[in-house]
Amino acid sequence: SPTDQGGEVSASFVVVANRLPVDRVQNPDGTVDWRTSPGGLVTALEPVMRANEGAWVGWHGAPDEVLDPFEEDGITIVPVPLSTDEVADYYEGFSNGTLWPLYHDVVAPPAFHRVWWDAYVRVNRRFAERAAQVSDQGATVWVQDYQLQLVPQMLRMMRPDLRIGFFLHIPFPPVELFQQLPWRREITEGLLGADLIGFQLPGAAQNFARLVRQRVSAEVRRDQITLGDGHVARARAYPISIDSRSFHELSRSEPVQQRARDIRRDLGEPKVMFLGVDRLDYTKGIKQRLRAFGELILEGRLDPDDVVFVQIATPSRERVEEYRHLRDEIDMLVGRINGDAGRIGRSPLVYLHSSFPREEMAAMYSAADVMVVTPLRDGMNLVAKEFVACRGADDGALVLSEFAGAAYELKQAYKINPYDINDIKATLELASHDAPNNKARRMRALRKQVFDNDIAKWADNFLTDLDQTVTG
Ligand code: ADP
Ligand code: G6P
Repeated sequence: SPTDQGGEVSASFVVVANRLPVDRVQNPDGTVDWRTSPGGLVTALEPVMRANEGAWVGWHGAPDEVLDPFEEDGITIVPVPLSTDEVADYYEGFSNGTLWPLYHDVVAPPAFHRVWWDAYVRVNRRFAERAAQVSDQGATVWVQDYQLQLVPQMLRMMRPDLRIGFFLHIPFPPVELFQQLPWRREITEGLLGADLIGFQLPGAAQNFARLVRQRVSAEVRRDQITLGDGHVARARAYPISIDSRSFHELSRSEPVQQRARDIRRDLGEPKVMFLGVDRLDYTKGIKQRLRAFGELILEGRLDPDDVVFVQIATPSRERVEEYRHLRDEIDMLVGRINGDAGRIGRSPLVYLHSSFPREEMAAMYSAADVMVVTPLRDGMNLVAKEFVACRGADDGALVLSEFAGAAYELKQAYKINPYDINDIKATLELASHDAPNNKARRMRALRKQVFDNDIAKWADNFLTDLDQTVTG
């Protein structure tokens, strides 16, 4: 297990991510709590870290606090501090105002600011230095996601003895979009410092290989990139997953099953319960799906006496302008739909802007009939897999956007194009009325996919490949 030598951590397996699995939150009365951090990265990696002893280097979610390493449920946590300005420029700015929209098909316009970039370089260096300090000789270091794309190269310069993996949880854009980035060369070279670069889909790995061919003097042979100094980086796809069995077991437990029944009762025992679960993000297509549902009700194609749509949205990145704007737009849309179509004691749309414990999520997934996942672009989308894992039998329907990474594996879902509102409408209707044997056939295939390809297999595939790379 990671040793603590005079307060200093030393580990042979190190994960480096902007987020730690837990966030430090200060309550109004001054007391402090640790809460599970939002998002798919943490959902996926937490079980990996529990299964492998190691250290997790990351930010604890609050500004201007320097914290010592500590143990949390068998994981050694190494907090990295960020100042208030760094949160604004590196996290909200370059990571979520530049890279996030650029990598998600520019569904919102990315902003390019040199001060943001300077903060990104500075903070990436801090993460690299902290990872270098806690890594044993010859350790494996696994760097995560778009916030830390410079870390692989920085770390390789500091510690050539390390085996360095990188995994991108979000899409990697086509060259035509990526090359807007004023710092495209630095980012590409930053990633190439890794021995193995993992993407969600083969298409993303191909986008990266094409970029390298055009912009870097390197020899590219299939997934193998050889640089001038002899260093070899590989670029491959590893579609990420969840701890399917533990979600399943949680959802089948008696308290969660009871809670699922209570939810349906509290909703007035609808014939069909639709469910949406997302971070409140403009990439998720929440507006499109609510608009489609609202129109179906107003046109009488769905009866508000029979159906209810529950939309849960976790607050996210609330100081970034695009996210504030989205929140207002959704508030307005929900109000309009319920105002137009609701009656006394009956609102077709139930909207909860809040985060819930995993038990409650499992109860929602169990209670729902139709899960509605409509991102305009998404690296994977673990919500889709969680819904499938939580089903107790071959029932329920998954409506899934073609633009989610999950669509690559979950081929038997009811697929939609989220840009086509009529397509969403027709598919919501079909998924709610389809014959039980059709639903069962689809769900059986989806469940097999999700149980056969869980997070343990993902981590094993990546780490085995990383192990077989030759460092140098
Ligand atoms: P992203 O990483 O972009 O947020 P994913 O669908 O891959 O998208 O992962 C989202 C994760 O956050 C899932 O594990 C999901 O269960 C969790 N989650 C989403 N909304 C909520 C919520 N309101 N309360 C608790 N957990 C949530
Ligand atoms: C996505 C990203 C993660 C991020 C998560 C939550 O899953 O890929 O890197 O941690 O969203 O976003 P946040 O900005 O709150 O960390």
